Amino acid sequence: MRRSNFLCAIMAATFFTQAVTILYGQTITPSGLFQFNHATAFSSLPDGIEISDGPAHEVITALRDDVLRVRMTRQGAMSENASWAVLTEARKSSVATTPDINAEHYGFRTHSLIVEVDKKSLCLTVRDLEGNILQQDVRPAQFDGTAFRVFKTMPLDEHYFGLGDKTGPLDRREEAFALWNTDAYRFQESTDPLYKSIPFFLTYKAGVTLGVLLDNTWRTSFDFGKELPNIYSFGAVNGPLNYYILYGPSPKQVVESYAWLTGKPPLPPRWTLGFQQSRYSYESQARVMEIANHLRADHIPADAIYLDIGFQEKNRPFTVDQKRFPDFSGMIAQLKAKNFHVVAITDLHIANLPNAGYAPYDSGIAGDHFVKNPDGSVYTGVVWPGPSVFPDFTRQQTRAWWGTLYRNFQHDGIEGFWNDMNEPSIFDSPTKTMPVDVIHRIDEPGFLKRTATHAEIHDVYGMENSRATFDGLLALAPNVRPFVLTRATYAGGQRYAATWTGDNSSTWNHLRLTTPMLKNLGLSGFAFAGADVGGYAGTPPPDLLTKWLEVAAFQPIDRDHTESGTGDQEPWVGGPQQEAIRRRFIEERYRLMPYLYTLAEESSRTGLPMVRPLFLEFPDAAPDHHPLDIDLPASGEFLLGPDLLIAPSPWPEQLDHYLAEFPAEDWYDYWTGRQVLEDGGAGNAGQSPLTLNLQPELASLPVFVRGGAILPMEPLVQSTNETPRGPLTLRVYYGGPGKQCAGSLYTDDGKTYAYRKGEFLRMQFTCKVDDKGFHLHVSAHEGSYPAWWKEISAEVYGWSPKTKQISLNGRSEGQTALKSLPHGVDVVFADDGKGDDLLIR
Ligand code: NOJ
Repeated sequence: MRRSNFLCAIMAATFFTQAVTILYGQTITPSGLFQFNHATAFSSLPDGIEISDGPAHEVITALRDDVLRVRMTRQGAMSENASWAVLTEARKSSVATTPDINAEHYGFRTHSLIVEVDKKSLCLTVRDLEGNILQQDVRPAQFDGTAFRVFKTMPLDEHYFGLGDKTGPLDRREEAFALWNTDAYRFQESTDPLYKSIPFFLTYKAGVTLGVLLDNTWRTSFDFGKELPNIYSFGAVNGPLNYYILYGPSPKQVVESYAWLTGKPPLPPRWTLGFQQSRYSYESQARVMEIANHLRADHIPADAIYLDIGFQEKNRPFTVDQKRFPDFSGMIAQLKAKNFHVVAITDLHIANLPNAGYAPYDSGIAGDHFVKNPDGSVYTGVVWPGPSVFPDFTRQQTRAWWGTLYRNFQHDGIEGFWNDMNEPSIFDSPTKTMPVDVIHRIDEPGFLKRTATHAEIHDVYGMENSRATFDGLLALAPNVRPFVLTRATYAGGQRYAATWTGDNSSTWNHLRLTTPMLKNLGLSGFAFAGADVGGYAGTPPPDLLTKWLEVAAFQPIDRDHTESGTGDQEPWVGGPQQEAIRRRFIEERYRLMPYLYTLAEESSRTGLPMVRPLFLEFPDAAPDHHPLDIDLPASGEFLLGPDLLIAPSPWPEQLDHYLAEFPAEDWYDYWTGRQVLEDGGAGNAGQSPLTLNLQPELASLPVFVRGGAILPMEPLVQSTNETPRGPLTLRVYYGGPGKQCAGSLYTDDGKTYAYRKGEFLRMQFTCKVDDKGFHLHVSAHEGSYPAWWKEISAEVYGWSPKTKQISLNGRSEGQTALKSLPHGVDVVFADDGKGDDLLIR
């Protein structure tokens, strides 16, 4: 029999003698404290267990064999079973469990997990079916007044990821964080809290992964061994003690289960994966057109231009400054004709302008849509337009009203909307946000109709703002996929909006920070994310802007944006040499668009991010299975999808060579097709992980392709609106005998929901080598969306033909179809959609 949780029993027994010192970060009086550690009643449930400690209760249930929910209440009934984050279907799921009770513990089993609650201490232990501990309370849960905290043991070799884009190292170990959406203008590496609150993290120990979502919208905090060594803990100042445990064991399974729990990002319009140009603010219609024309004249591919607050009249949302933008809809039409998509900012603060003919205010007041002070008056706070009022996005009727405000802009042809300042940011408040006693009136399916203070709603306010925008746009144009970019959000916000990391700075260190921020955001559900390219605060030196544009070419949202009053930051700034490098990278992004869009579709189906830490794809890369990303030589690296590894220096401003560490695979140089380990002993073949010495250069960025990958690529276009001309390229990187060799392609019209009716095109590719030669199989086209190509150009790397004889679908084509490339061969063949088998001998 396994030992009971001895440490926890001691912690429970000593609790009251230590009470004043042990509660996280607060001075506490013993009278306010309560520890859940003494069972007065127990019962098995069909899907779990229920335990009481006097008036306090705990319910642990299995939603699936690999997903648990833990709820506790200090007294009385459990709080309302409603959530802004967790999908109703997920919350209502359950599986039958088998009771597992003995002298030492209460508990149950599922087909994946063993759950034990120690009878002496009421500490929870979760094990796999072999009995290995996956998670364990180190002491019983504690309550102090309305606050609570949960404490877990922190094994020496466990690592922590997630919590959205919190700064600092990728691994959250030995760090602590507060979740309280904050306008963190010019945030730095140690700034906390930031704009978003995503109370979800992964624990990762020797490749075994769990996810934990604390679904509590009040101010929450997470401490990974910073305050108490070897203990990690999480808690909230108020609200339900309610968390979910998601078992992998692989990190991918956890990320996919998190998407099951909180939703997947929608398939974005394809143009949002193009290059986006922004600034605060292009000050006039003429300037916007000048930027657009310059991009086209210089042949810098681009898809989107942003209109920041300066396009509005006196910063009033949903207005247009007619003097500076005399023909607004004409401008949008001209941009459209040049294949640009316009994204307009629509901040949530509505100017407080009674009797001034300002429709958003008038209709909002008429519909009683604004949040109120405790005395019932409408709350006002100063933001860009001056005194402003704030929609109550917790009411479905308010969200529906908000959506109608987009009618004119959508009619004008604006295709994307930017929800900024939605923490909410308030200039004249001492806390820089709404007072916590402001009143929201929740009116929402699944929730009790009730009032709630801003303290409870604050962290979901921005998410509900982006939800109102997303749903509103859909209501106005049901067949067009909306694009919403939000700054503040909460767990589950990926269902409504892409996000960016807020007001970073134009420094090399901020370029470095971008990588761990985007990796952790991706693990936290946000597949579509970016950082302001070139940095927001300040003016980047030309080399920094160049390097940033290089790296961002391989990240989901590639938006160049800067603050008001800074120098110009468009790709041509700094002279033609810099521009030529930047253009080359943006062009490469466009060539990779079939791969990017295929990844975006995968994200929308599975919840897996586009930018991935190495450990997501290679959990076993290190002999001890630690996540490779936490090693300094891998810390600058990231994966784009499963197949591309981008390896900038861990110190991007450094001129010296650097060591890069890789999972032991056959990597290929993306730019040349050459196998990396052919590079004359530069690497350490056969060892795990591999290391490579790389020399940083301004004009280049090391990018590698995994052996066994098949990358779909297309001829260069200047905008995703253009139809590529020429063959679809398949870059086939042979991974050696016995290694999987595969890829896929997904495409559709890029903007509507017709794909849901079968109007998409999906293909699978595989390759293998046998005694006949090299085989490439291209599947028949699935779906009814027509291909833009007639031919496929298959570039094969890592395998050399002997006779150069080609056959296609069993017919010999001779040798003429084969061309040599510096490190491979290229065969072009017709693709009629019925599937092809290519054999090269
Ligand atoms: C703050 C946002 O973070 C920034 O991107 C934007 O340019 C300004 N607000 C002005 O709208």
